[in-house]
Amino acid sequence: MKKLILVWALSVSVPPCADADEGMWVLPLLKQQKFAEMQALGLKLQDYDIYHPDSSSLKDAVVIFGGGCTGEIISPEGLVLTNHHCGYSQIQRHSTLEHDYLTDGYWALTREQELPNPGLSVTFIDKIEDVTAYVAARLEKDEDLGGMNFLSPAYLNTLAREKAGEQFLQEHPGTEVEIRAFYEGNQYYMFTKKKYSDVRLVGAPPSSVGKFGADTDNWMWPRHTGDFSLFRVYADANGNPAEYAETNVPLRPKRWLKISIKGIEENDFAMMIGFPGRTNKYYTSWEVAERRDIDNAVRIHIRDLRQKAMLEEMLKDPDVRIRYASKYASSTNAHKNAIGADWAIQKRAFEQVRQAEQDKLIAWAEQMNKPEYPEALRMLEQIVSDRKNLRFRSWMLDEALARGIEFTGIPTDIQAVADALKGKDKARQQEQIRLLTLAYHRFFNATYSPKVDKKIAKIMLKEYRHLVPAHAQPARFSIIDKKFKGDTDRFVEHLFHTSIYGNPDNFSAFIQNPSARVLERDPMILFAKAVQEERKALVSALSDFDSNFASERRTYVKGLLEMYGDQAVFPDANSTIRLTYGQVKGYSPRDAVYYQCQTTLDGVMEKEDPENWEFVVPQRLKALYEAHDFGPYRMADGKMPVAFSATTHTTGGNSGSPVLNARGELTGINFDRNWEGVGGDIQYLPDYQRSIIVDIRYVLFLIDKYAGAGYLLKEMEID
Ligand code: ARG
Ligand code: GLU
Repeated sequence: MKKLILVWALSVSVPPCADADEGMWVLPLLKQQKFAEMQALGLKLQDYDIYHPDSSSLKDAVVIFGGGCTGEIISPEGLVLTNHHCGYSQIQRHSTLEHDYLTDGYWALTREQELPNPGLSVTFIDKIEDVTAYVAARLEKDEDLGGMNFLSPAYLNTLAREKAGEQFLQEHPGTEVEIRAFYEGNQYYMFTKKKYSDVRLVGAPPSSVGKFGADTDNWMWPRHTGDFSLFRVYADANGNPAEYAETNVPLRPKRWLKISIKGIEENDFAMMIGFPGRTNKYYTSWEVAERRDIDNAVRIHIRDLRQKAMLEEMLKDPDVRIRYASKYASSTNAHKNAIGADWAIQKRAFEQVRQAEQDKLIAWAEQMNKPEYPEALRMLEQIVSDRKNLRFRSWMLDEALARGIEFTGIPTDIQAVADALKGKDKARQQEQIRLLTLAYHRFFNATYSPKVDKKIAKIMLKEYRHLVPAHAQPARFSIIDKKFKGDTDRFVEHLFHTSIYGNPDNFSAFIQNPSARVLERDPMILFAKAVQEERKALVSALSDFDSNFASERRTYVKGLLEMYGDQAVFPDANSTIRLTYGQVKGYSPRDAVYYQCQTTLDGVMEKEDPENWEFVVPQRLKALYEAHDFGPYRMADGKMPVAFSATTHTTGGNSGSPVLNARGELTGINFDRNWEGVGGDIQYLPDYQRSIIVDIRYVLFLIDKYAGAGYLLKEMEID
C-alpha cells in the first residue's frame, strides 16, 4: 500500500520544467534565455538597460560588498547601500563602550566623519566574456596532474591573467581578472573587476532596528527588520582604486540607482541583481539523501545540544550573553537553514524528483546512444556510497569538535617558542613569549568564556565519542579511556585545570616561568593538535573522491544540458553576478493561513517587548509611530511600510541586493529568505520560497526622520 501511494505521489510531484520565477541568470545570456518572459511579467526596460556588454547599464550600480554580500550604488558621489548584517563587523569595530554604534547607531554628519574600514572592499564588474572555447583549448594542451584543472581557481585565474596580459593589469590599478566555471565546468566566463579598498562607514541604524527580531525572527516572514547600512566608496583623484588616504575623494561612479518611493503592490514585477554564493541545483538523488541523512542530521543534532547549553549560560549571565551573541547567531543561522532544507526535501520530494530526472536522462541517453551519461550516474551513486563513512566522521568532527569546542582552535604551533626556550638567546625567548601572549589574547578575547567552552566541550566530546566508532576517532583520544576510564567530563576538567590555556592564572604562571617541557606536554594543546590533524586527514581522504566526482558530475550536467536542448537552464550560483526576477507576493505557509507580502510599523509595535533584547523598540521610533510622522514615506493607507516579500530566487550572498521594479528603480534591499524557502538552494519552491526585503521607504524614513540625516537624501535621485 505504502509503495503504491509513493508511486502515485511521484507521478504528480515531478514538475515538468522550470517554474516561472526560478533561476539565477547569467547576464550575457539573459536576453536570449529570459528577457521575453520578464517583459511578459511586466518589465518595462530593454535588455541593454539591464546589461550592456560595452556601455553602462544597471549592472554597473551593483557591487560585491566585502567578502560575501552585495551592495548598490545610490548616488553620483559613491554612496553604497547594503545590509546592517553585512556591515556588522565594521560597525562593531568602530564601537567602544563610550561610542557604542552597534547599540545606538551611527551617522556621519560631515564627510570628515565618515569612518575608514581597513580590509573592506567594494568591487565592480566591468566586463563579462564567454571564454569557453579559450579554456577548452588550454585544457587540452596543458598538463593536468590532479585532474582538476577544469575547476581549479588557481589554474583558471592564471589563464585569465594570461588572456588579459600583465601589461593591461599593471596599467589598470585595482583591476583584477578571473575565470569561473559554470555548469560544473561545461562553460566558462571571464570577469574583469575593479576593486576599491577605501570604503567608509556613513551610517547605520541601532541594532534594535537593524537587527530587530534577531535570531527568533531570522529566516522568518512576516519580518520587521530595518536591515541596512550605508557606506561610501573613495578613490584617488583620477577615480582609480587606492588604499585609504585622507586625500582620496568620493568615487564618481559610472552608474547609480534611482530610488522609487511610490511603493510596491502584490504581483508587481520585481528583480534583483546580486552575487548569490552557492547552490546545489545539480545534486543527484543520492546527494540529496546524503545532505539530509549525514550533513543536516549531524548539524541539527549537534547544534541542538550546543545551542541549548550556550543559551542556558547566556540567559544566566549578561556578560556571557554579550560575549556569545554573535556566535550564537551564526550557529542558529545555519541550524535553522538545515531544518528548513530538510523540510523542503520532504515536502517537495526532492529525492524522488531527482531520481525521476535521472531516469529521464538514462532513457534519453539510451535512445541517443550516449552510454557516458548513465555511466556517469552510476559512478556518482558509487562515490556517494563509498564516501559515506568518511563524510559522517568529517561532519561529526567539524560540528562537534572543530566548531563545537572553541579551544580546539587555540594556537598550537608552539615549536618556535619551545625551541627558543630550549636555547640560550634571551632576546629571542622574549620575542617568542611576546608572540605567544599576543596569540593567546587574540584567541581568548572578548567573545570567549572558558566557563562556557568547558561546559560545551563536555557535552560535545561525550556525544562525539558516543556516535563515532572508537577506531575512527583520533588515536590520541585513547588516553580518555586509559587515564580517565572513559569519563570525558573528567578529561575536560583535567585539560582546563592543567593547560596554560585553561585559565588566565595558568597562563600568567607560565609566562612568569616559561618552560619548553610544559609547553610541549600541554594536554589542551595536544588535544587541539589531534583534532586539527584529524581534520586535515579527513579533508584529504575525502578529497581523493573529489576529482572523480567532479568529472562525473560534469558529464552528468553535460547530459542534462543536451537533453534539455533549447530550454533555458541556469547554472548553480558561484558568487558571480546574477539576475533573478519574479513578483512581489505573499504565501500560504499552511492550510488556511495566508501571509501578506507587506509588513508595516504596526507589526514592529505588535512585536515590541522591552524585556527581550531581540524585540526592544527604540524610544524615538515609538515617538514617530505615535505621531504618525512618516513624511512622504507612508503608504496610501497612512501606514509606514517596513518589509516586503517576493518570489525571486535568492541565496546567501544575495544579502544587500537591490530589488528593482519594472522600471529598474530601487524599491528595497534583500536581506533574508523564509525558512520554508531555503530548500530552494537545491530546488526552487514556487509556492513557498520568498526573498525577504527591507522596503526602501523604511530605509529613507530611518535616515531622514529617525536619524535626522536627511542631508544624505540630497545626493540621491528619489522619485
Ligand atoms: N538569515 C540571514 C542570512 O543568511 C541573516 C543572517 C544574519 N542574522 C542573524 N540573526 N544571524 O544569512
Ligand atoms: N541572509 C542571507 C545572506 O546574508 C541571504 C538569505 C538567503 O540565504 O537567501 O546572504
